[in-house]
Amino acid sequence: MLVRMVYNSVRNMTKARNFAFLIVVALLVFAILSLLSNTSSAASDDVNKEYSIVPENDTMALCFESLQDTRKLLYSSTDNDNDIEPEPIIYFVTPTYPRREQVAEITRLGQTLMHIPYLHWIVADDTSVCNNFLNNLLKKFGIPYTHIASPMPEFYRTKKLVPRGVANRRAALAWIRNNNKKTGVLYFGDDDNTFDLKLFSEIRSTKKVSMFPVGLIGDYAISTPVVKHGKVDGFFDSWPAKRKWPVDMAGFAVNLEYMGLSPNVTMPYKAGYEEDEFLKSIGLKMQDIEPKANNCTEILVWHTQTKNNKPPKIRISNGILRNNQFNLGVLLKKLETMGVSHISQSEGTAAQITKDGKSKSLISWFS
Ligand SMILES: *[C@@H]1O[C@H](CO)[C@@H](O)[C@H](O)[C@H]1NC(C)=O
Repeated sequence: MLVRMVYNSVRNMTKARNFAFLIVVALLVFAILSLLSNTSSAASDDVNKEYSIVPENDTMALCFESLQDTRKLLYSSTDNDNDIEPEPIIYFVTPTYPRREQVAEITRLGQTLMHIPYLHWIVADDTSVCNNFLNNLLKKFGIPYTHIASPMPEFYRTKKLVPRGVANRRAALAWIRNNNKKTGVLYFGDDDNTFDLKLFSEIRSTKKVSMFPVGLIGDYAISTPVVKHGKVDGFFDSWPAKRKWPVDMAGFAVNLEYMGLSPNVTMPYKAGYEEDEFLKSIGLKMQDIEPKANNCTEILVWHTQTKNNKPPKIRISNGILRNNQFNLGVLLKKLETMGVSHISQSEGTAAQITKDGKSKSLISWFS
């Protein structure tokens, strides 16, 4: 009896083992088949690929978590309105032109500007007729605005270097003059740039001309004034081109009272030299410039474009990087951290500083 029971259970066990073996083989065959069919279908039709649900043990690191809602309005309305001076209005001038990205860019910029009080947006479009679609879009933001159609003269369109945006900015300057706007701050902000909200509180206090770094410009990935002991003393821009003011259009703001002192304010149709010529036409002097963005160590505006560029490498000595008498070391190290550009002691574009239209190596600028 006992023998028989043992025999039976052993036979059941072998049966069970065979069964388990069969299942394993079947699973394996199924796995191989589905793998084969997956790779072939993945090659032909990626869209139909099915993704497994996220397993619990995937590698991931939680970097930071905040469960507190610390959002607040940038300008709280709790202050008694009678107590505060009306802030100078920022006239934000945006040249734009019809293209695939226009509506997307204007949407993004408009939603940035929605955060800013006391702002008048001047949008000048490079068209001969007013674009109703664009106007309906502008209206929706609720920002005080002026929509201008200001086409570039045909003559310039055929040039090798097209002075893009000049007709639009000239139209905005004409609007400011014709409407007798004599107080406030003028700023040229292109539709594809990215603006930190802090930029607006910085430029609002502009007395004459304020300047600050612009990220993602040229071979240095930055265009900035060089600041020494709290004063602007040169420029760091990879395309000096003998310009007296080698700055980007988004790198300065102008007080309208100060601008009003110059009778011949203009922006000529001279591709590449628009900023320089404009700043010359308002009679700018080096000592008039107010450095903003924490003595030009912060990047509050980016020359973003709808294209992908590699981070450039900038050659600069360690000694100069560590020199805390001026802003470049702090700024370039920040850009390195952000992955915007790289610093090297031996290779890359040599860092040079421009002053009075002449470019010098950093070593000679210091001596
Ligand atoms: C800029 O630098 C000057 C001189 O070092 C200093 O007095 C001033 O407080 C600085 N400004 C800011 C905003 O940090």
